[in-house]
Amino acid sequence: MPKKGMYPEVDLILKTHELKQSAIISILQDVQKQYRYLPPEVLTYVARQLDLSEAKVYSVATFYDNFSLEPKGKYLIKVCDGTACHVRKSIPILEELRKALGLSDKKHTTDDMNFTVETVSCLGTCGLAPVLTVNDKVYPAMTPEKTRELLKHLKEEVNE
Ligand code: FES
Repeated sequence: MPKKGMYPEVDLILKTHELKQSAIISILQDVQKQYRYLPPEVLTYVARQLDLSEAKVYSVATFYDNFSLEPKGKYLIKVCDGTACHVRKSIPILEELRKALGLSDKKHTTDDMNFTVETVSCLGTCGLAPVLTVNDKVYPAMTPEKTRELLKHLKEEVNE
């Protein structure tokens, strides 16, 4: 059982939301911001502190697409494959990323935990298609060449 005080950053988040059970969604959003995903041991801890069942906390964590129970890389790249982006050739962009990073539709995160590549159905900026985001920064009108450049730049950042 996770002991009280084991996760000071989570305690701070809980305190910000006044330990309110009704704030569970906002609490989990903040926890995810902190860890980039929802670690199972932290979910257990949150359940204990809020006096909620683990089942309840897990049901919230798995209900919303934005929550992830899997660890994500330092750079989370989301390639839009909604209709507008798809017709403007989002797939070659996705393939370029997967090839360059050794990823696939089954393996989303590199072993060094630097990159995660996912697809999304529409980022809501169809006029800029094809679009991808890196940690929520939007890159419009992408091509495989521009993607290669972007990746090169991100890898340099990692090594700095
Ligand atoms: S389909 Fe890609 S932003 Fe809408």
